[in-house]
Amino acid sequence: MIERDTVNAVLSAIINAEQIRDVMIKPDHISLTVVISPEEANKDSLKLKIEEKLKAEGIAEVHVRFRVQEAKKDTPTVQNNSKIGHAVGGADILHSSATFLAIASGKGGVGKSTVTINLAVALARLGKKVGLIDADIYGFSVPDMLGINKRPEVINEKVQPLERLGIKMISMGCFVEDNAPVIWRGPMIGKMLRNFLTDVQWGELDYVLLDLPPGTGDMALDVHQMIPQSKFLLVTTPHPTAAFVAARAGSMATHTQHEILGVIENMSYVKCDDCGSKKHLFGKGGGAKLAEELHTVLLAQLPLGLPEYSPLDPEAAPSVYPETHETGQIYLELAKNICGKVSHQVV
Ligand SMILES: Nc1ncnc2c1ncn2[C@@H]1O[C@H](COP(=O)(O)OP(=O)(O)O)[C@@H](O)[C@H]1O
Ligand SMILES: [Mg+2]
Repeated sequence: MIERDTVNAVLSAIINAEQIRDVMIKPDHISLTVVISPEEANKDSLKLKIEEKLKAEGIAEVHVRFRVQEAKKDTPTVQNNSKIGHAVGGADILHSSATFLAIASGKGGVGKSTVTINLAVALARLGKKVGLIDADIYGFSVPDMLGINKRPEVINEKVQPLERLGIKMISMGCFVEDNAPVIWRGPMIGKMLRNFLTDVQWGELDYVLLDLPPGTGDMALDVHQMIPQSKFLLVTTPHPTAAFVAARAGSMATHTQHEILGVIENMSYVKCDDCGSKKHLFGKGGGAKLAEELHTVLLAQLPLGLPEYSPLDPEAAPSVYPETHETGQIYLELAKNICGKVSHQVV
């Protein structure tokens, strides 16, 4: 397989190594992002040249994406599709250097929201600036799971994300009255995602986590279109059937050229209080099987059991494991692992 250094060397005649990001190398496939300046006019010919060079190295399929370089902090950016102008300075998160992590699953109820929230909190515990978008428009659950029941403020026509445990969050649940159902057609979903991305004053972020709805519907496609640079994490339970369903969400991510960082197996086992042995109530091996099928890795196996919610502790959130909890530690390791993987890719 071609090495990362060789890619840089081969392309050095055309672009600088610093412009090459998100390189994903597979035996006969390579995908990469090229950071370009807003003035770059020859994208098409640049793309052709890059493809030509890499194909000459024997790679059958080359996929090149472009990302326009982050605007300077105090330069307002212009967003054509945003209904609200950027009155307040600050780069749009879509064009910032923030890493987007989309958390997907084949079906609901596997713990996607639980994993997203706990990973977000773990990344914040590592000192990262984290935003969380609850992209499950119909089935939002993040505000409740974080114990948030406030409404976001609007300042200078910008929605202020809600903050809890060091993370910033926005959800459809912040805007509906009394848990009313959201009844919308597909196109509205995309509009809402765009609003969440561009009309919210996120400030500077290192990571943006997206809690996707289950399956391969409109939202997954909208994420693909609006955030082509997003990387995917797949959540499954250990049962082989669950993994089979999750594989569809995974293969959609692969088809749309998104990198899959890995698989997270939730509800993997219960640990016996007395002897410490692990009981696999929901079967075994689903996560590993899925990872193998998608040519990625199994990043974590999380036990069954939720944190205890203490109404006396105002900081306790119903679904967040404290740092001291064994599962909280697994999340911290997972967060470190992900940071390592992501930083490795940036030259
Ligand atoms: N490891 C776990 N142990 C016990 N319960 C869990 C675990 N992970 C999730 N749950 C519970 O399972 C239910 C579904 O989880 P959720 O995160 O909402 O899944 P999804 O977002 O995939 O629909 C929730 O009630 C949640 O509290
Ligand atoms: Mg959910």
